[in-house]
Amino acid sequence: MNNFLKVAAFSLAVIGLYTFYSVWVIPPINPEAPPKEAVVEEPATVDELVELGESVYNGKGACSLCHTAAAGRAPLLERAAVIAGQRIKEPGYKGNATHAEGYLYESLVNPSAYVVPGFGASGSADKVSPMPDVRGSSIGLNETEIRAIIAYLQSISGVEVTIAPAPTEETKAKE
Ligand code: HEC
Repeated sequence: MNNFLKVAAFSLAVIGLYTFYSVWVIPPINPEAPPKEAVVEEPATVDELVELGESVYNGKGACSLCHTAAAGRAPLLERAAVIAGQRIKEPGYKGNATHAEGYLYESLVNPSAYVVPGFGASGSADKVSPMPDVRGSSIGLNETEIRAIIAYLQSISGVEVTIAPAPTEETKAKE
């Protein structure tokens, strides 16, 4: 019996020690605040629109998967908004765009409307673009994100950003 008491006392002492240690010695874990959204969902200014475009371009849009010199799978886009104006004047242009901004929009949502020569899907004789419709499930951009990307492309091309932060009746008609 004496032995039993000893064992019991020892066990209690050990449990007590562990309890003391876990409550008073181990520092409590304070969960970090959730990360702030990097960009505004509904841009209010042209700057915010361009900023959103840049983050979509490099993130969710997966554009840099193909549109880099290293990937070498697609034309570079540093001057895309300037080149857009030239594309629609090319004799081989069969798309529906009548201005640079419209060409960029068309390139994003209907890439096969016009395939840049030499960049078509293999075996398609430049009739089918390897680029997916950015609204489709693999990328899934919404209208605001598409407008933001066009604004971003205009911005890096050094032309005036003509996309308004929120679509107006006038710009809707243009698209
Ligand atoms: C799977 C590879 C791939 C991805 C991902 C991709 N593209 Fe493309 N893109 C291409 C290829 C190839 C072409 C050239 C063929 C054509 O005209 O469609 C092209 C053409 C374009 C053009 C027309 C360029 C020109 O010189 O006329 C624009 C603008 C463009 N892409 C923008 C984008 C943006 C913005 C994204 C991201 C949201 C994107 N692309 C994602 C492969 C891709």
